[in-house]
Amino acid sequence: MEIIRIIRIMQDTSKGHLLHSRSIGFVPTMGALHEGHLSLVRRARQENDITVVSIFVNPLQFGPLEDFERYPRDIEGDTAKLREEEIDILFLPDTSLIYPEGFSTYIEVEKISEKLCGAFRPGHFRGIATVVTKLLNIVKPTRAYFGQKDYQQAVIIKRLVKDLNMDVDIVVCPTIREHDGLAMSSRNTYLNKTEREAATVIYRCLTEASDLIRSGIINGIYIKGLMHERLLKEPAVSGIDYAGVYDPETLDELLEIKGDALLAVAVKIGDTRLIDNMLVTTTKGR
Ligand code: PAF
Repeated sequence: MEIIRIIRIMQDTSKGHLLHSRSIGFVPTMGALHEGHLSLVRRARQENDITVVSIFVNPLQFGPLEDFERYPRDIEGDTAKLREEEIDILFLPDTSLIYPEGFSTYIEVEKISEKLCGAFRPGHFRGIATVVTKLLNIVKPTRAYFGQKDYQQAVIIKRLVKDLNMDVDIVVCPTIREHDGLAMSSRNTYLNKTEREAATVIYRCLTEASDLIRSGIINGIYIKGLMHERLLKEPAVSGIDYAGVYDPETLDELLEIKGDALLAVAVKIGDTRLIDNMLVTTTKGR
């Protein structure tokens, strides 16, 4: 595994591979790698000749009162995991190279960035869209891999790739869960024992709502009410940013479920904000 820190070297290395018709699979990450990340890495390895993983904790996607400083960092552990996965290149740029003095260009994906998490984390998706655009320009992948756990992020990235005519396939991979259903996330490390147990309420809430939709209930507001009730019964839930039923493409709230539906939740367990979602496919036009 080669470690590249310099943007120009990463670009030239990718150009060399592409010139030799080798496909490049790319997994952008912020490190603190868990099985969720590794599932993306394995998929990228299966589907491409060359696999590149980046680790960059992007300051631009954290709000001033958010957990940028506290975000888990474990470069040594991550490097060992990626060596074990036998990836080809680890791209490890420094913040000063990604955002040099005078940096002033940002990518804004309108409308869908303002909904769900965007309504509670102003600037978050602008930061993601900007860094992902930069990383795609640097790594020049054939395919880039993202997890469904960050559903809104994946929708936004697909939109920006389409709108900016970027020549890359965006592959969205299933959420990887702990044995009790909690979606894997680097932020799970913030939870104490009680909070960790309480956090399973998110998965239970999503599966119950999904079962209701599958049983034929089409009233989105009713399901949203039950989801809120379920979450608030758990004493460790200190706040709900959103929980409900949404259109999987526009992310608008669904009052009536007529086709596929996205169940999405963002809650605070103690001080930790966790998100999760579940796609429910139904027979169109019931
Ligand atoms: O999903 C993440 O880890 C980050 O948002 C990403 C895509 C690496 C951009 O910083």
